[in-house]
Amino acid sequence: MQRGVVESTSTKDNMSMVKGYIFDLDGVIVDTANYHYDAWRKLANSLGFDITEEQNENLKGVSRKESLEYILRLGNLNFSDDKKSEMAELKNTWYVASIRNMDKSELLPGSENLIEEIKEKGLKLSLGSASKNSVRILKATGLIDFFDAIIDGTKTTESKPHPQVFLLGAEALNLNPEDCIVFEDSINGVKAANIGGFRSIGVGDKNILSEADFVIPSLDGISVDKLNALIYQNNN
Ligand code: G6P
Ligand code: MG
Repeated sequence: MQRGVVESTSTKDNMSMVKGYIFDLDGVIVDTANYHYDAWRKLANSLGFDITEEQNENLKGVSRKESLEYILRLGNLNFSDDKKSEMAELKNTWYVASIRNMDKSELLPGSENLIEEIKEKGLKLSLGSASKNSVRILKATGLIDFFDAIIDGTKTTESKPHPQVFLLGAEALNLNPEDCIVFEDSINGVKAANIGGFRSIGVGDKNILSEADFVIPSLDGISVDKLNALIYQNNN
């Protein structure tokens, strides 16, 4: 691993070899984070206010329902449950329209290579995403068959930073959290991984993802060996 590329804030010692890899979807595997942001902004704008990029960091990784609640708090607004369902549906209609032609070109650099390599090496792979659109996206990008388990917003009752999505992922892989690493681009996702006892790899800006055990700017050029070197060099 090149110097300066990776930042370690790890405090987790004596953890076992990595057997399972749990990937967040939006912003880690696919470049959809901006489509979510655009659709939420459109909704906020229709209500008379805007969402900053900084505020949007708190929306990443958070379920559709919880995201709407956060946005309404920003606008100091409240609505009936029916109206809120309508708004969440509207946002999803806009979001789905923006991914309707999705194909491999939306994959973020390095994600497909790493997923293929994990599978080739006989290691375990799960999705750990809040999105209810995950199956649609994994099919459209041709990645769905690589996954041993898909844990997403259709299977969870709690939103990140609650660790439920990752704990269910580890369970589906028949592994313990300490056997797995989690890739996350969101503050809430990193927190969820840490709370669940997983090694967390932040994918993105080290200033934003400072709570992660390790931060890499992207999955580009990342291999199983590089990840092992990163984790064990820093822990031994
Ligand atoms: C991910 C994204 C969030 C999104 C959430 C729910 O965690 O980071 O931005 O709001 O999934 O996605 P969905 O596709 O179900 O609306
Ligand atoms: Mg994400």
